[in-house]
Amino acid sequence: MRKIRVFETPDELNAAAAELFFEIAEAAISQRGQFAVALSGGSTPAPVYKILSERYRSRLDWKSVFFFFGDERNVPDDSPESNYRMGNEALFSALPLHHDSVRAWPTWREVPEKIAEDYADELDHFFRGFPRFDLILLGLGTDCHTASLFPQTSALAEKEEIAVANWVEKLSDFRFTLTFPLINNAANVVFIVSGKEKAEAAAQVLEGEFRPDEFPAQFVDPENGTLYWLVDEAAASLLNRNKF
Ligand code: 6PG
Repeated sequence: MRKIRVFETPDELNAAAAELFFEIAEAAISQRGQFAVALSGGSTPAPVYKILSERYRSRLDWKSVFFFFGDERNVPDDSPESNYRMGNEALFSALPLHHDSVRAWPTWREVPEKIAEDYADELDHFFRGFPRFDLILLGLGTDCHTASLFPQTSALAEKEEIAVANWVEKLSDFRFTLTFPLINNAANVVFIVSGKEKAEAAAQVLEGEFRPDEFPAQFVDPENGTLYWLVDEAAASLLNRNKF
């Protein structure tokens, strides 16, 4: 099931994203005693994480929350480029978490393939089987990539592995990413998309021809879960509103 919600301003988008995170988390904790979430990186989600750390700090049993990352850059975890560092500054550092609440990609390892293998092992161990996240947050690149699943890269075709090192030619570097089989096994997947620079990508993914090798975010379609697109007016400006 796919739900598209458009918000007047980035502030309204961010507040709605934080509230949806909270609702999904609260339900998971009450039903199963824990909430497993894969956070998105980049810049868009940082204000959402800030809202969670400030407005929801006392509203959620954070010791029952387990954080992973949908993707990571090939940098140390104290690099300004690191998604882990962004999450720590915006969210983790302000919350009462267990020492093992946050599972970052082990980018301190030298060999890219080993980083992905270790993360896959961590996921296997935590989920005791094929991972089904309660929530996976995703962003959208202007080139329609999501997580680190970039157009024309080998990870798009990955059907077995749940976490891979993906060579991205245009970046001349590896990126680490969860794969579509894992993403599409989640109970909830939420895209958070903001800004006019994302309008064309959002229209291509949501209303364009199905060409997922060019528009990778089109591959996101949870088999047994709910897909949410939370978009602000600027990013939704090229969408056909009659369709939703
Ligand atoms: C990353 C993200 C990536 C991001 C998009 C959008 O590591 O950068 O996981 O998929 O969501 O590139 O990035 P912005 O939110 O910075 O526009």
